[in-house]
Formats: sequence, structure tokens, C-alpha cells
Amino acid sequence: MKQTEPRHPRQILVTSALPYANGPIHLGHMLEHIQTDIWVRFQKLRGENCTYVCADDAHGTPIMLKAEQRGLTPEQLIAEVKAGHERDFAGFGIEFDNYHSTHSEENRALAELIYARNRDQGNIVAREITQLFDPEKNLFLADRFVKGTCPNCGAPDQYGDNCEKCGATYGAEELKDPYSTISGAKPVLKANTQLFFDLPKYQGMLRHWIQSGALQEGIANKLKEWLDAGLQQWDISREAPYFGFEIPDQPGKFFYVWMDAPIGYMASFKNLCQRRPELDFDAYWGEQASTELYHFIGKDIINFHGLFWPAMLTGAGFRRPTAVWAHGFVTVNGAKMSKSRGTFIKAETYLQHLNPEYLRYYFAVKLSSRIDDIDLNLEDFTQRVNSDLVNKVVNIASRTAGFIKKLGGTLSPDNANRALTDECQAAATEIARLYEEREFGRAMREIMALADKANHYIDEQAPWALSKQPGHEQQILDCCTVGINVFRLLVLYLKPVLPRLAQQTEAFLNIGPLTWEDHDYLLLDHAINKFKPLLQRIDPQQVQTLTEAARQDAEREARAAASTAPPVSGPLSGEPLAPQIQFDDFAKIDLRVAKIVSARHVDGADKLLQLTLDLGGETRNVFAGIKAAYDPAGLEGRLTVMVANLAPRKMKFGVSEGMVMAAGPGGKDIFLLAPDSGAEPGMRVK
Ligand code: MSP
Ligand code: ZN
Repeated sequence: MKQTEPRHPRQILVTSALPYANGPIHLGHMLEHIQTDIWVRFQKLRGENCTYVCADDAHGTPIMLKAEQRGLTPEQLIAEVKAGHERDFAGFGIEFDNYHSTHSEENRALAELIYARNRDQGNIVAREITQLFDPEKNLFLADRFVKGTCPNCGAPDQYGDNCEKCGATYGAEELKDPYSTISGAKPVLKANTQLFFDLPKYQGMLRHWIQSGALQEGIANKLKEWLDAGLQQWDISREAPYFGFEIPDQPGKFFYVWMDAPIGYMASFKNLCQRRPELDFDAYWGEQASTELYHFIGKDIINFHGLFWPAMLTGAGFRRPTAVWAHGFVTVNGAKMSKSRGTFIKAETYLQHLNPEYLRYYFAVKLSSRIDDIDLNLEDFTQRVNSDLVNKVVNIASRTAGFIKKLGGTLSPDNANRALTDECQAAATEIARLYEEREFGRAMREIMALADKANHYIDEQAPWALSKQPGHEQQILDCCTVGINVFRLLVLYLKPVLPRLAQQTEAFLNIGPLTWEDHDYLLLDHAINKFKPLLQRIDPQQVQTLTEAARQDAEREARAAASTAPPVSGPLSGEPLAPQIQFDDFAKIDLRVAKIVSARHVDGADKLLQLTLDLGGETRNVFAGIKAAYDPAGLEGRLTVMVANLAPRKMKFGVSEGMVMAAGPGGKDIFLLAPDSGAEPGMRVK
């Protein structure tokens, strides 16, 4: 008797690199998250126990300066940016198990632990160094604030930590003709003590690890070159002022952002463990962990993940990653993303114009396990999506579903083309192998080849011709049943890439969520639902509009940057005016007439009134800081204007679901409408 082996799902933890919290997500970031998300969804679809965590990388000088520039605390800035990042990722269907921040208590505790353990192992050394100092601004210059000529290859205008031309890493003081990017001044050298991680101590371990299959071949070779050249100690501390974690035994010094950033992977997972009792932190990170750990990263951050990170983990008694997988960079129309050409496209802008699944598919087509750059050629993108997804895959359903509906809506009990369905079912093995190996482009080609075969078969059968003469009903139903079955299999194989299409297809086919195993059987004698168009063709005009919008984004940003010069005092209030906004920004605010149904004092709040507002059918709870000016009883029953589309905000006393335009010194200055003004709750204010 055949015995089926009990299935032990793999335990896999997967990460994408943590985006910096100083700017929005763009299509370059999206490549990485789409790649990771496809791989994770594939694993989950197969029933593996796969967990996907990420976080914002919230520390470092650029974030500190950006916050300052915007008149925010770093905490405010990173909260705002994180909300935007999460919204954009969700918009592209990136399904994290957890999205956390490196500026979190979990990360602080783990960074301190990893530091302390390494220190106790003798891996942290204090060294007096001379550092570049900006004599005009009176501060030590972080690497990113010094530019100059690469000491290795002579390329001009390189940052103080590494050269973008030749990839060399060096200390900022080694740059030739350095200048401060903050003041433009020539930095002076000043003595200072900093902490270093003793990377050379791990030379042997790293050599072994690099050859263990944990890295792609090209990368392993590159790292081996660095090892052969000899490793340097790694500077892990930074001088105040710095936004990060202060080093416990070194007041005034902070962990360098790249010291605690990868620890953010652990912190995000740790944070998740609190919600998911079945996840055991040590089973994933302990020295003896037998679970799998994969980091998806861009090729620009290989040294951090391929050298420093495994060494630091080892020094602290934690496991090393199973593998680190790097991808290349996104270019658009063959060139680096460019703001002026409208090819620096923010995730948010893309989402305003195009279906995210188009990009998921196109990136999948382009992705392999290699680190070649990935070109998003917008013409090819349009054509590819239209010809593959619309004309090949969805077409199979759209040209067969109608006939089935007409013939009663139930699939035939017979399979009229066993050869074709067998081939499509058997392809599951190879397609799975390709997903597993991150050869997504090849997987997509396999799937499209099957779609071609199905379309060819339907062309041959030509149900539209058969339907013109009576008596061919069974043949039509049989042919279309084959079509629908192939369509179902292809959508199943595409499900990691196109989760939304899969979901719509499941509804159309009247079936539960497809899992990988489901390729084993066919849908016969089964009632399906009415077919609704699943994917629209891309109109090249939409792509034009997108790049135009991206260009406008860039212009708006440039103007905003110009207006972050210190604001002038407003003539009326004596308070500085907020930075100017464009009409587009203003037009986003949905102002509505609202009726104050009730107004109450809030226990313990000295400024707030709690208002219940009627928006004409919808009731909102709003906290307004107008207690000093208004007697609540006098407000009830009156009309005001509110910002109706403000995101709900959690306040100390509850959630506020909007904001009333009732600010002012008091008395009659509240913006209330007269009861006889003809205004009705819910009316839009123009
Ligand atoms: N914060 C660090 C990563 C810390 S991981 C412990 C960082 N942040 S980043 O925002 O600059 O980049 C995040 C990821 O996006 C990196 O893997 C980077 O390679 C990737 N990409 C950023 N721009 C990219 C393209 N244009 N194309 C492809 N990937 C790109 O680095
Ligand atoms: Zn160089």
C-alpha cells in the first residue's frame, strides 16, 4: 500500500530591506517588495509556514535633517512616512505579516543585546580617530554629508562611505578634495573616539559562509574579492546630534543606523511574536535554529548583509541567514529613474493611474535569480500586459464563459481535451521549481505558452461558428469547459503574482481560495457564475498621463524644497505661515456642512469639546480644541463646516473622525452657518 508521508511545512522567515523613513516608496522599492511578496505568496500557496516581515528604517542623519527642515520632530516625521509606506505597499498587494519600525522598543532592546554580547566577546574596540568636522556648522560630519573624489578610482562627487562608481568602501577622511554638503565648507580633521566592530576577526567564518550557497554566485565572488583584499574594522558609533539609539555605556554616542537597521528584521519578528503565540522567536533566531531565513535586498547593500550582518549575528550568538538574495536596479526606459523625464515614479502616483497587478506582472516577467538591472520600458510594459494578460489569459475566459452561461451555466461533466489539461496540470511541477528558484520570468513564459495552446485549441474548435448551427451544444460546452479549466489552472499558477485576479476568478468560478494542490483536479459538472471583465487593457494614454503626473510631482517637490526657507511672519497673526500649498493639495480637502448634534465637555481635558456631528446620514465623533471659547449647550443644533475626509486620529480621549473649521479666538469667530442659510448636513462646501 502506498503511504503518504506526513507533511511538515517548512518554517520560513522572509524579509525585504527596510525602506528609509525619509521619503516615499517609488517603483524601485516596489520591485523588491513585489519580488519578495511573490515568493512569499508562492510559499504560502504551497502550504508552507512562511512569515514575511519588514519595517521602516527610521534612524540616521538624513531623517534627522529632513524632520528639522519640515519643522517636525523625527518621531512625527517617521510616523507620517511610515503611514504612507504602509498605504503604498497595501495598494500594491504586498502582504506583510508585520510592518514595524527600527525606532521601536523591540529594536532598542535587541540592538543593546547584540551590542553587549559582541562587546563581551571582545568584538567592539574603541579607537581614537580623526574625523571630518564642519567648522562652520560645528559638527562632526556623517559620511553622507561629505562628498569628494573617490580615493580608489578618482570619480568626483562621491559620498564619504562608498563609491557609486567602483563600489569601494572607505572612510570619509580618505576622500580627496572633500567638502561639507551642509555648508560647502572644507572639513577639518578633529580627533575623536569611536567604536568599531572587529570584522577581521570573522574573516574565516565569512569565507566559509560566503561559499555555503547563501549567496548568488556573482555576489559570492565579489565578496570573496573583498575578503582577499582584507577586511577593515567597522565604525558602528556616531556622534550626537544623531537620531537613533544612544549606546548604553557611551553617553553622547549613538549606534550608526546600519548597526541597528538589520536588527530591525528581528525586532519586527519579535513584535509579531506577541500577536502570534505559535511563532517562537528562538526557533527563528537562536544559534541552533533549523528554520529558514531569507533576506531580499538590492545589490547596493550587499556588503551590509553579506559581511557585517552575519558577523554581528555570530558574535551575539544568533543564527546566520540561510541566504541573502540580491536583485538589480530598476531603470525606466533604459535610464536611471529621472525626475525631469517623469520616470521617477512614486508608488502612490502609479496607483492613481494604473492597476497594481500590471506592474506586478511586468516585474515578474523581468525578474530572475540574477542581479541584472531591470528595465521598465513603458511601451513594452503596455504591450506586454495587454498581449499576455488581456489577450492571452483573460481572453480564454472571456471567449468561453458566455457560451457556458447560455447553455445553463454548468461545466460539462466530460473532459474533451485530456491532452491539453494533462499538460497544464503537469506543468505545476516545473512552474513551482521556477518560483522557488526566483526564476519568475521563466515561470511567466511557461504559463503564457500554455495560454497560447489553450487559445489555439479554442480557435480550432471555434465555438462561435458552431453556435450558428443547431445541434452542437454539447461540443460547445465541452470545448468551453476545457477553456475554463485551463484558465483556472493558469490563474492558479499566476496567483502569487496576481492575487486580485485570482480572487476575482475564484468568485467567477464559484470556488474557494485556490491552493497549489488544486492543480491536481479539474472543475467538471460545476456551476459557475456570470463572467465580468477581469482586466482592462492599458491605454497608452494612461501611461502618458502617469509620466506627466510624475513630472509634476517632481516639480511640486522642487517648489516645496525651495519654500522650506524660513517662513515669513503672516501679517495677521504674527504667527509664521505654513509652507505654501498648491491648489491640488487644497482640492484634496473635502469640506462638508455638518450639524452639531451634541457638544460635551471631556473629563480631564482642559481644551477639548467632544462634538457629535451629523453629516446627513453619517455621524462623526470629533474632538475640537474650542472649550475655552464656547459653551457646549450653545453649539447644539447649529451648523458648522468640517473636514470630512481627514483620516481618523487616535487621541488621548478617543478617536477623532474629522476636524471642524471652528478655530478662532472665540466669540462670534466660530465658523457657524445660520440655520436659514439653506445649508444641509452633508452638503459639499465649494
Ligand atoms: N534602509 C536601507 C536598508 C536597510 S536593510 C536592513 C536602504 N533603504 S532604501 O530605502 O534606500 O532602499 C531599500 C531597498 O530598496 C534596498 O534594497 C534598495 O536596494 C532598494 N532600491 C532602492 N532603489 C531601487 C531601485 N531603483 N531599483 C531597485 N531597488 C532599489 O537601503
Ligand atoms: Zn571609486
